[in-house]
Amino acid sequence: MTVQSALMAGVQTLKLAGIDGAARDARVLMSAALGIDASRLTLCLHDPIADDVRSLFEGYIAARQTHRPVSRILGRREFWGRSFKISDDVLDPRGDTETLIAEALRHAPHRFLDLGTGSGIIAITLLAEVASCTGVAVDISDRALDIARYNARQHNVEDRLEILTGSWFAPVAGVYDLILSNPPYITETEMTALAPDVALFDPKIALTPGGDGLDAYREIAAQAKMYLTQTGAVIVEIGHLQAKDVTQIFQFHGFGNVTVIQDFDQKDRVIVAKL
Ligand SMILES: C[S@@+](CC[C@H](N)C(=O)[O-])C[C@H]1O[C@@H](n2cnc3c(N)ncnc32)[C@H](O)[C@@H]1O
Repeated sequence: MTVQSALMAGVQTLKLAGIDGAARDARVLMSAALGIDASRLTLCLHDPIADDVRSLFEGYIAARQTHRPVSRILGRREFWGRSFKISDDVLDPRGDTETLIAEALRHAPHRFLDLGTGSGIIAITLLAEVASCTGVAVDISDRALDIARYNARQHNVEDRLEILTGSWFAPVAGVYDLILSNPPYITETEMTALAPDVALFDPKIALTPGGDGLDAYREIAAQAKMYLTQTGAVIVEIGHLQAKDVTQIFQFHGFGNVTVIQDFDQKDRVIVAKL
């Protein structure tokens, strides 16, 4: 059997399972099974496929058939030009969160706090981009923090990152010029309509705080000023329909300067709150 015939069979299996982008996914998975860059796959299509590569590829296809995202099958996700390890214990990072990174970089971070760090993408990206800054990353999930630690080591920033377990500010001391968070914000109602790639594989605690989806913002806004420098900013990612509610939450807690930033699709995506 050739690489091409195994690939075609994989595409067919994914199509029958109703996977959008079946051909693209099968190519990525075949490239990973072969251990080559996807751009080189065409060159190998007529080669015979080795038994071990074939069974690895078929395992990948069987996983994708259940709607497991390609990133979770391969255990890696690209974010802001870097590769991060992910596992079933962390949110699969979303491109939307790059809007938060762009805004944080505009504020030239010196010492930041990342609440709900998950795989660590926000904290680690900032540390890698700004060599002079230091950060503290918090998550309630110890298993997520194991992944964040691994990623911090992989990107050589572990010396500038303190990692703490606990709920939001509970384990935190000191003040920060930036407080960042991409908290769980999906509403209880939205949870019932999520695509299987999300609903079945992202940890529930990373997706939703329940109810109207706003509880994490209420907690963060209520306590942030005790941990913020006078000229500092809180920068949070939001669901694209939450700008008004989250703005009001920060205003209620004494933030006089609240701005909404849109993402690359022109959707409300980030709130910047200053005292
Ligand atoms: C939407 S995920 C964001 C993960 C990562 N920052 C990212 O952008 O990909 C939310 C994260 O908040 C964490 N979390 C949920 N409730 C928390 C709490 N009470 N205190 C701290 N972290 C919490 C979850 O474990 C999860 O890692």
